[in-house]
This record gives sequence, C-alpha cells and structure tokens, in this order.
Amino acid sequence: PGEALVDARGRAVRDLRISVTDRCNFRCIYCMPRAVFGKDYPFLPRRELLSFEEIVRVARLFVARGVRKIRITGGEPLLRKNIERLVGMLAGLDGVELTLTTNGVLLPRLARPLAEAGLHRVTVSLDGLDDATFRRMNDVDFPVSSVLDGIAAAEAAGLPLKVNMVVKRGTNDHGIIDMARHFRGSGHILRFIEFMDVGSSNGWKMDEVLPSREVVERINAVFPLAPVDPNYTGEVAERWRYVDGGGEIGVISSVTQAFCSTCTRMRLSTEGRLYTCLFAQHGHDLRELLRSDGGDAAIGAAIDGVWMAREDRYSEIRSAHTAARRKIEMSYIGG
Ligand code: GTP
Ligand code: 5AD
Ligand code: SF4
Ligand code: SF4
Repeated sequence: PGEALVDARGRAVRDLRISVTDRCNFRCIYCMPRAVFGKDYPFLPRRELLSFEEIVRVARLFVARGVRKIRITGGEPLLRKNIERLVGMLAGLDGVELTLTTNGVLLPRLARPLAEAGLHRVTVSLDGLDDATFRRMNDVDFPVSSVLDGIAAAEAAGLPLKVNMVVKRGTNDHGIIDMARHFRGSGHILRFIEFMDVGSSNGWKMDEVLPSREVVERINAVFPLAPVDPNYTGEVAERWRYVDGGGEIGVISSVTQAFCSTCTRMRLSTEGRLYTCLFAQHGHDLRELLRSDGGDAAIGAAIDGVWMAREDRYSEIRSAHTAARRKIEMSYIGG
C-alpha cells in the first residue's frame, strides 16, 4: 500500500531475472572462458541453490511490488532438474509475463513441456550460422544445427521466439548479414547485442565492441530498415523493421547508448542473493532470511530496502578503469 516502490534514481521495479543454475553446457568465450571455467571450477553445490518453493516465494513478493516480467536465466536454465515444474509454479502468478533465455540445445526435449507448463515465450542465443565460428565461440563444439533444432522445437511447441546474437568485432561480425537474412520473414525477432564487460574473466576490450549503429548501417545497406517506436519506455532493445515487410530486428547497445536511466531490473542469483545491476560487485543475501523464516513481512522489507537504496548506472560510467573491477560473472547472475 502507499507509494510505488522506487529506487534512489526514481526507477520502479518491473522485471525480475531469476538465475536457476550457475552451470552451462557451453563455454562461450565472452561468458565462461575455459581458462577460468575449467574442470575444477567450483560451481555451487546443490544445497546452496534456492529451492523452487523459495524462488516462487521471492517472486510473489516482487509481483506484489510491481514486477510484471519474470525471466528465467542461468547459466543454462534448462540444465536445472525439473525446470518445467518451476515454470508451472511461476506461470501461476497473475499478471506476469514469463520468459526464459537459453542456448537452445535442450529445447528439442523441453520446448513442449515448457510450453505446456505455461511459459509465454523464449529467447535463444545464437552467435552466427557459420559452423566453424559458432563452434569456436561456444568452445564445446556444438554445431549450429543443434541450436536450429532447438528453435524448430520451440516453433513446433507454439512458443514465440527471440534470437540473441552477441557481436564481437573480428570474431563473428562477418555473420551479421547471414543472420539477418536467415531470420527475415520467420516471425522471430533477431537482436544484436554489443559485447559487454560483464564479469572479470572475458578479457573485454572496447576495440571488440561493434557499435549497434554500425550493425544497423550494415544491414540497412542490404535490407533497408526503418526505425520503430519502443513498445514501452525502458525497453532494452531499440527496434527496427525491414521496409519490405520482412519483420523486425532489435539492437541492444549497453556500451554505446546506456539505458540505465530507465533500468527497472532486479536479479536474483541461484543461491538467493539480490543484485541491483548486471555489473554489481556484490549482492544482498535473502536466503538466510528465507531459511530462518522471518516471515513475508521481513523478507519484503529486506527487498524494499535493497531496491530503495539502489543507485546503479554502470553503463553510464563505464571506462577501461571500471571494466577492470572485480564484478559478478554473467553465468552466475544471468543475462
Ligand atoms: P524482451 O525484449 O522482453 O525479451 O527482454 P529484454 O529486452 O530484456 O531482452 P533479454 O532479457 O533477452 O536481454 C537481452 C540482453 O540484453 C541480455 O542478455 C543482456 O546481454 C542485455 N541486457 C538485458 N538487460 C540488461 C541490463 O539491465 N543491463 C545491461 N547492461 N544489459 C542488459
Ligand atoms: N556481452 C554481451 N552479451 C552477453 N551474453 C553473455 N555474455 C555477454 C557479454 N559479455 C548474452 C548471451 C545471451 C544472454 C544470456 O547474454 O549471449 O544471449
Ligand atoms: Fe552458457 Fe549462455 Fe554463457 Fe554461453 S552465454 S556460456 S550459453 S550461459
Ligand atoms: Fe541496469 Fe546496471 Fe545494466 Fe545500467 S548497467 S542498465 S543499471 S543493469
């Protein structure tokens, strides 16, 4: 009751991104480089993970505070056992759009159970169509076809779909036009993401960021594009449509055009910490409260406190200096 919950910069909380595992079956070079995430990497033991019941309890408290979109992420969320059960539980929350980000290779088995459990849509990551480059980027030798099979399974299950391509200049930017051509007319929205300095292990350098403006220029030269108004204020992707009616694409420009001033996202880690920014250096533990059970009022008050104190605007202040900070890894906190 009373005033809407806003942070120290006047931003409301609208989206909750829930990481359900810190593991992944890929080792994307920009996210989980093998040199860091090797054989002996200390992934979280099972007892450290929030249970589905704990996750849903937190989610419900966020919905009461204005959250309208919940995204399940990871690591690779489809590696979490019985993930469709969690989807079913979260789908029961009223007025929430429920979606999930995945690398897609487990969708042939899981797309239908996820859709039946009530998932509204899915976002699949795919960094190119040329097999050699894609294998090099995921670094575990998954072929492009394994992701395309996943996309086909999502289509067959009736799940609306977006495709995310992280663009690294000099690595996969030669594949932009092929990706645009492939997904034109498919009804799926392809989004190009600027390579970001998430975490502290991906060796980020500004030289390897291809500004979204250039992505749009390159595509526009082959398939003319026109800008489209945002669906809502604070939308992360800037929208463009093919002039010939081939559908729409998006560009996500966290590096060259920061969108912090309208950032309404809270992140819940696998082990129950709240992170107020993708680039946060530490989180706020909720698990202890959940397990000692202070009751919903105490947990809700903790959530309110974390959000009200939130001042993050990392992408607006990014520099070579901030990039070198020790930050939380994306595989732990989720895209
Ligand atoms: P939908 O359009 O509703 O599917 O959601 P979205 O635009 O938030 O897209 P999605 O969740 O798929 O995010 C796409 C990518 O944008 C993420 O994987 C991140 O790379 C980037 N991104 C999303 N949210 C943030 C954010 O808060 N900060 C930054 N810097 N990047 C973000
Ligand atoms: N820069 C940009 N996007 C990234 N992702 C993971 N790491 C990075 C990074 N360093 C993307 C993935 C996926 C989503 C979860 O986040 O490719 O689309
Ligand atoms: Fe796994 Fe996604 Fe990170 Fe790639 S980007 S390593 S698929 S979590
Ligand atoms: Fe939000 Fe942080 Fe991303 Fe800015 S950098 S948009 S505050 S998550």
